[in-house]
Amino acid sequence: IGKKLLAYDLVTSTNDLAHFLAESGEPQGTVLFANGQTQGRGRLGNAWNSPVGKGIYCSFILRPELEVARMPLVTLTVAMAIAKALKGIHVDKVSIKWPNDVYVGHGKVAGILTEMHLEGDRVGYAVVGLGVNVNLSRGELPPGATSVALALKREVDLVDLSHIIIKNLDRLYADLLEGRSRELLGMIKESSGLILGERVRVVTANHVVEGYALDFDENGSLVIRLDNGCCQVVHTGHLEKPG
Ligand code: BTN
Repeated sequence: IGKKLLAYDLVTSTNDLAHFLAESGEPQGTVLFANGQTQGRGRLGNAWNSPVGKGIYCSFILRPELEVARMPLVTLTVAMAIAKALKGIHVDKVSIKWPNDVYVGHGKVAGILTEMHLEGDRVGYAVVGLGVNVNLSRGELPPGATSVALALKREVDLVDLSHIIIKNLDRLYADLLEGRSRELLGMIKESSGLILGERVRVVTANHVVEGYALDFDENGSLVIRLDNGCCQVVHTGHLEKPG
């Protein structure tokens, strides 16, 4: 990942551009960066605030030889690459929030949007977009969000941080493909803000699952023990802690 880097100024969404390139046959691993986005988007139809020169707005193309079921682990791997980069520049209290966010303390600092183009039950290609709030000030951030600059009390070079993230990602993705996903999952669990055994509620597109978080399975999905004693595997959704 990252052998070919494309840099843009202002785009609608780097994910849109990556889809367009992927459809045109762009190979796996190409990474796109933009200085700003006019229609940056997050999961569940949310907008992603993307002011010019303030954050990392990046997408990359994968043509994974992986089953669809393993894609949650890909998203967590990207979260791990970001978390590792932030820890490396001495940001404190960095954690991964399953399934696709990175937090600093109680504030969301980065989000990942994985969009798959399926061919039958296989992933034809996937576009993975990541947004990191780097030098955004309090006033530029939505409620519940924070930035690297707020955490470190100084601005950070966007290009330097982008390169660290891509380098981490390239290594961690190789771990995933080359059969080292057990080690990778161990690392993700260690960085996860979710304490296994804790009571959780996951809101998915069509239902709500509540119970005790038991573990992540080998695909990065969350295993929840329901109150009737049965276990349910949840691939994605919005994770909450019941009050
Ligand atoms: C989320 O937290 O809901 C995911 C946010 C993903 C934002 C990034 S910014 C680069 C890429 N382009 C987009 O339009 N979205 C992703």
